[in-house]
Amino acid sequence: MRKKVTVVGAGNVGANCALRIAEKELADVVLVDIMEGVPQGKGLDLLESGPVQGYDVNITGANDYEATANSDVVVITAGFPRKPGMSRDDLLLANYEIVKNATEQAAKHSPNAILVLVTNPLDAMCWAAQRVSKFDRSRVIGMAGVLDTARFRTFIAEELKVSVENVTAVVLGGHGDTMVPLTRLSSVSGIPLSELMDAETLQRLVTRTQNGGAEIVKYLKTGSAYYAPSAATIEMVESILKDKKKVLPCAALLEGEYGINGLYVGVPVKLGSAGIEKIYEIKLSDEEQAMLNKSAAAVKELVDVLKEKVGA
Ligand code: LAC
Repeated sequence: MRKKVTVVGAGNVGANCALRIAEKELADVVLVDIMEGVPQGKGLDLLESGPVQGYDVNITGANDYEATANSDVVVITAGFPRKPGMSRDDLLLANYEIVKNATEQAAKHSPNAILVLVTNPLDAMCWAAQRVSKFDRSRVIGMAGVLDTARFRTFIAEELKVSVENVTAVVLGGHGDTMVPLTRLSSVSGIPLSELMDAETLQRLVTRTQNGGAEIVKYLKTGSAYYAPSAATIEMVESILKDKKKVLPCAALLEGEYGINGLYVGVPVKLGSAGIEKIYEIKLSDEEQAMLNKSAAAVKELVDVLKEKVGA
């Protein structure tokens, strides 16, 4: 039987997630959005690309969750995007309501699904989804690190004029300006970055990575990035559906790992059919740990606002 993925939010990120799932023939897709006609129209349009692109998956659109029943994975992208000058955090309360409702509905109709969160502010939305669904932390995962790492890899490859495929990078922490690109563990085919560029150049690429989302928002003006975010999301979904057990940086609920408790923070995890199958706790230098703590503190600030709102 084919796998089934629900994508909540038929905006640019959601529609591109559906497209990438179809093009990789990973699963049937149900696109859900509150906008009447939009998920149906985009779903049908995607379906009609099948004969040309050669994919045999079913894609439907809906305004409610009936059709989403028994999904293997539910990707939640619904929410307001950023406008220029806004931080991801400015979206907190508005997107909390959207994510809360989507999670309640998704969990009700697909109690065994793995939830992949994309809505910003990412780490706080993951916390909300886990709290609302009451799913085990292995089944509520946030997409941020794969995107942040992809941006870092892009900039490194561009700087060195080498293939992006040869560049590996690790980015820890929250999906915000405090994210922690671990330059020490980033390399080009195993060659440490410190051998390939001076500290100043490296810092420039780190800063550009930290502001990578805002760089796109500034160009687009009316919204945020969607091609790279959807690509990053589908790498996670593919690893889950195919039980590939890829090791990817994802937002995971930490329960003591890295000295952090009760917060979603980006860390390397193994993604397979059970969701997060392992959290890798790598040894950090004092400086790296301090940066991670700072990033976690920024996540905590938002979660504290939500806690106050929901009385947790
Ligand atoms: C970004 C937004 C979507 O990083 O968070 O592009």
